[in-house]
Amino acid sequence: MAIWRRGGVHKWRPALILAADFWLSVPLWLRLMGRRLRPPGGYVVAALNPLSLPTNPDRAAIFARARSSAPFFDPRLRLWVVLDPDAVTQLLQDDRLVMPDVDAALAALEGRYGIKLPHLRWVTSQLPLLSNGEHHRRVRQPMAKFLSSEKKHAESWRGGVADLIASALAKPGRLEAFRQLLLPVVNAVFENVTRVAVAFEPLTLTKIFDHYASFKQLVDLEGHVAVLRAKLAASGIPAGSEGMLASLVMLGRDSLLSSISESFLNLVTICRGRRLDDPPEDPPRLLSGVAIAERITRTPFSFGGISFREGERVRLYFQGFHLLGSETERLGAFGSGPHSCLGRSLALELWSLMVAEIAKAPRLIEAVGFEYDRGVIFTMPMYIHVDFA
Ligand code: HEM
Repeated sequence: MAIWRRGGVHKWRPALILAADFWLSVPLWLRLMGRRLRPPGGYVVAALNPLSLPTNPDRAAIFARARSSAPFFDPRLRLWVVLDPDAVTQLLQDDRLVMPDVDAALAALEGRYGIKLPHLRWVTSQLPLLSNGEHHRRVRQPMAKFLSSEKKHAESWRGGVADLIASALAKPGRLEAFRQLLLPVVNAVFENVTRVAVAFEPLTLTKIFDHYASFKQLVDLEGHVAVLRAKLAASGIPAGSEGMLASLVMLGRDSLLSSISESFLNLVTICRGRRLDDPPEDPPRLLSGVAIAERITRTPFSFGGISFREGERVRLYFQGFHLLGSETERLGAFGSGPHSCLGRSLALELWSLMVAEIAKAPRLIEAVGFEYDRGVIFTMPMYIHVDFA
């Protein structure tokens, strides 16, 4: 500004031209520096904020544009971002990508702060999602067996869940659907499966997966895991299955809650201005609230014209799967490969029950209001208000 006021612009002209020239040529520089900084999906994709993408109101259009785009590197988060569902599926099955070593990270934290996190160390050592190779197979197998036997027992929660839905939708006045309907439903299912109360606040048990978890949040999480562990030990379940059930709650509850909430929000938004017992012809789909998965590159390798170096973070986005044409393709939102979701049939069963029960309610939806919680992994609402006429 001072330059213009003093009328000294002529003196600075060469420097200004040089500066303008430099900035105008930035895309050229990036091109010369190679593909690493040049997203083949285009600069619109590169300008995205990967952190707010899962709750961005335009996310459907963004994912539609990003179809077939190559991974790009986000310099602020220092990780690769993968939006294209085909690339996500291929990378989830690629054993050159592995889970981070959380046990080593916790050990380092204990050393740095001179504390002990025994309950966290206990549960992370049994979480399939944080394990690799042979150890992963050892912890995944009993969980898969347990959940497939639970499938036969879904009858034991169906009646209770149907009653919860009917009574929430019969209440007069505004329904705060997240706290009054969805949270109780998901807690009831997990209590039925694990035989203990799991009424922890949303997003507390899954802090372990969040890179932005503060030290205090991890210490709080240590306390929550201790409580869960003690409840399981006192519940009379077969000895040795506490770790598997604690892992199940940690991996499944927020996944189910966020997904059921995304799906319910979509349902009431579609039904705005009409009665719930006059639902649209196509039954509203189960949408995933699990926004991302992450891996670390174990070795350098090339993929889709991109060269990954060893030890890089790769973030894979799931919401692109919602836009795919067939139901089978859309199931990709439950992950693929060795870490694919073990709770898929439970989630689909609960959602179809919910759709059927909601379609019995003689209520006219006047307005819907919602706000998302802050978070990276899940699209979790803080509230969903439904006003009935
Ligand atoms: C609609 C609800 C759900 C969605 C969208 C979902 C999604 C996912 C996804 C995308 C993964 C793979 C993550 C990765 O590869 O990094 C996963 C893993 C997993 N999910 Fe789910 N999930 C849901 C519900 C559940 C439920 C209800 C349970 C348990 C009852 C569950 C248990 C698991 C387990 C144990 C794994 C880890 C498997 C392994 O690492 O071997 N999920 N889920």
